[in-house]
Amino acid sequence: MKREGFATRLGVLTATLGSAVGLGNIWKFPYMTGQNGGAAFLFIYLAATVVVGLPIMIAEIMMGRRARANAITTWKKVAPDNSGWMLVGVCGVLAAFSIMAFYTDVVGWVFRYIVQAAAGGLNSSDPKAAEAVFKATVSAPWASLAWQWGVLALVSTIILGGVSKGIEKTTKILMPMLLGMLIVVCIRSLTLPRALDGLAFLFNPDFSKVDGEVVLMAMGLAFFKLSIGMGTMMTYGSYFREDANVPLTASRVMLADLTVSLLAGIAIFPAVFNYGFEPAAGPGLLFMTVPAVFSSMPFGQAFMTLFFVLTAVATIGAMLSLFEVPVAFMIESGLGWSRKKATIATAVGLGICGIPATLSFSAMSDVTLFGLNFFDFYDYLSSNLLMPIGGFFICVFAGWFWGRERTEADLSNRGALSNRAVIALYSLIVKWITPLLVLLVLLKGLGAF
Ligand code: PHE
Repeated sequence: MKREGFATRLGVLTATLGSAVGLGNIWKFPYMTGQNGGAAFLFIYLAATVVVGLPIMIAEIMMGRRARANAITTWKKVAPDNSGWMLVGVCGVLAAFSIMAFYTDVVGWVFRYIVQAAAGGLNSSDPKAAEAVFKATVSAPWASLAWQWGVLALVSTIILGGVSKGIEKTTKILMPMLLGMLIVVCIRSLTLPRALDGLAFLFNPDFSKVDGEVVLMAMGLAFFKLSIGMGTMMTYGSYFREDANVPLTASRVMLADLTVSLLAGIAIFPAVFNYGFEPAAGPGLLFMTVPAVFSSMPFGQAFMTLFFVLTAVATIGAMLSLFEVPVAFMIESGLGWSRKKATIATAVGLGICGIPATLSFSAMSDVTLFGLNFFDFYDYLSSNLLMPIGGFFICVFAGWFWGRERTEADLSNRGALSNRAVIALYSLIVKWITPLLVLLVLLKGLGAF
């Protein structure tokens, strides 16, 4: 059977970008920046994106394209003599599961906010009222589970219906719209009377609060944002065309992803300070501040609804790429599973693993693992452990075992591209700088020294 792949070069870029841009930019980046003191966190995140994120993304896509296989089988093909490397792929499948377990819960919140916004239930700029609505939303156990399962069913239907192509087409139109909406929120937010306080928080760093754990979290966010270190980019790389320019595509995805994150920050923090929200409010930050900003402008209710609709759309590309990791593995694992069986198995598995994450805000809020509720545990496990560990080994393999010749051939498309300087720089960084940095941050963040 011929493997499917991305049909056009633009399709390669938009699908990869669709995986990167999602809740990470719009929801996670602002709330983590708020919790970790603002600008200092932002700058570390920026550095991690460029020095750690970009090289790993290039390495992953390159390996996936050469092997043309899923996240685990790729290792079997590129390292046939040493099956230990396959563990990196196994870590990746675990990470994808662990992310989806809480990601689908948050997507459920987004869907519920669409309904509430459209019904006029969010028209207030009062922090207390906004907090009450958010709390009521996340703490309703059955409704939360039902929405999460609805989200899982939706993603499975998209995958099974073979309508991903349709999704590719729709996202091409809707993603620019989301960007436009974010810019509208930014303008409104920046014209609020106390906007400058928010900007100062976002861009004026105070490094005194930075410790090993904060650095690890900023790096973990970079992994999460770029969908790297766990096989998503490897799986997507396996669908890349032979003539796609890997370093250029990866750089574009990184820059676009960063831009969306920054816009989300500029949209949210001026409003946070203007209306007196708590910057460290956590996962509810987006859901409380965005309605506040829209409530104070003409046609706010319609805009607010549209904003949540577009956010929901942005999450679909990310969820499809997360699903693809276990699904592609199950199909190619030799068990003879069809795409349908693999997708249903993944959805059911997630429906079960997601329960404790979703109930972390209600019935299971007191149940903790290593001091974290399940929602935070899944998040910590994926972003701060599994993805950095996976990223470290990917770098070590790409830097030390891939070999100069293969790297040159792969990244220049066998000499078709003249990008020698880029390849030289990449080779140096992926061999020496990125793995050492990841290891150091990981060990320091975990308190090993
Ligand atoms: N990058 C996605 C986002 O920002 C999340 C994601 C992580 C997707 C890992 C795939 C793999 O929402």
